[in-house]
Amino acid sequence: MTTSCVTGLLWGDEGKGKIIDLLAADADYVVRYGGGHNAGHTLVHDGERLVLHLVPCGIRRPDVINVIANGVVVDPFHLARELDALRGHGFAIELGENLLISERCHVILPLHLHLDAAAESMRGDGKLGTTGRGIGPAYADRATRLGLRMGDLIRPDSLRVALDRQLAQKNPMLTSFGAEPVDRDGLLEELIELGDGFRVGILDTGHVLREAVAQNKRILLEGAQGVLLDVDHGTYPYVTSSNASTCGIAPGTGLAPATIGTIHGVVKAYSTRVGEGPFPTELSGDTADRLRTAGNEFGSTTGRPRRCGWFDTVAVNYARAVSGTTDLVITNLDVLSGFDPLPVCVAYDIGGERVDRFPAFDLQAVKPIYEELPGFTEDITGVRRFDDLPENARNYIRALEGFVGVRAGVISIGPGRDQVIRR
Ligand code: IMP
Repeated sequence: MTTSCVTGLLWGDEGKGKIIDLLAADADYVVRYGGGHNAGHTLVHDGERLVLHLVPCGIRRPDVINVIANGVVVDPFHLARELDALRGHGFAIELGENLLISERCHVILPLHLHLDAAAESMRGDGKLGTTGRGIGPAYADRATRLGLRMGDLIRPDSLRVALDRQLAQKNPMLTSFGAEPVDRDGLLEELIELGDGFRVGILDTGHVLREAVAQNKRILLEGAQGVLLDVDHGTYPYVTSSNASTCGIAPGTGLAPATIGTIHGVVKAYSTRVGEGPFPTELSGDTADRLRTAGNEFGSTTGRPRRCGWFDTVAVNYARAVSGTTDLVITNLDVLSGFDPLPVCVAYDIGGERVDRFPAFDLQAVKPIYEELPGFTEDITGVRRFDDLPENARNYIRALEGFVGVRAGVISIGPGRDQVIRR
């Protein structure tokens, strides 16, 4: 099986970007299958921190073909800016050569950003804390069959029809929120111009990928967000609007489910969450602040401070099972240096009962039950072999492997490309 996937096991921000970049050394294709520019996949490039939002993390590898597959929602204005910025950093990006965009990708329009903000403000205290990128409204339009697709941008006639259909519904809605209605001709012109710029890269990526599978090419699927943000399997309604878990791969690419082999489930050595929603092992006060500072836990897309907490084996076990994780990747182990002891949540107390299953409801009411493991104080960022880690760090990893039941083949101990231990 030559198709593998990297998926986040919690609420995103697990450090997938660096791992995908690493594994892309053995890939012919790197493929985003869901989400949009709400994702922020961070790489350290020439000593500089670089955040990719839509462009797959294989872009640093000259021989890799990067694919934005049909499950991704694309803001074409953002994509144009991201490509300019990457080219400004010296990346050779050739549309139709090393970057392909599915003609079936749904389009995020500027009006979706307004609708995202309006929906958040109408939710009041129950707001989701979205990234404000228009993701939810664009996926909603896909479901209600009002969406525009990237292929429309290179077909002015079909674009006109799709845009009129869209604006017939959205302009009255926007005016009712007190926002300006969309100037159809102005937007049409901008979209046609953007489409012209992307034209050679917009194609049937499902066909390309199925052909690649038939030729035994190595495909690496790049998950965005994480299992617990999956619209079906996450902490609903505090989730994103797509199947961010591996169950989104088949619909998001056009590949058959049986083509997926290894699944690398990525998780930090502790937990973080950005945005609202339940988080059983969340910390507050000094320890949370220390963890946030040590791990530089600020959102790569929105800059918001991330909520921080201890490792949660109940949540990770659930995500492991939902995603079909075959290989564990543990990131940010170095951040835990100096924390002693290291509490690990091994079960939940729900109304006085010990439970080890992740519940679909009332997660905010569970109390974590912790086991404490001894911490370590050494700086481990220069370690490259598992056996060279301090004993307590090795024991911590082994304990997590035991709780989750999957071996950690990759351990990340710093943001740099080489700061990794492979076993
Ligand atoms: P949306 O995807 O912008 O609609 O946001 C829905 C929820 O998912 C919010 O809590 C966001 O903070 C969260 N979210 C979306 N994308 C990411 C991501 O890439 N990393 C972490 N959280 C994310």
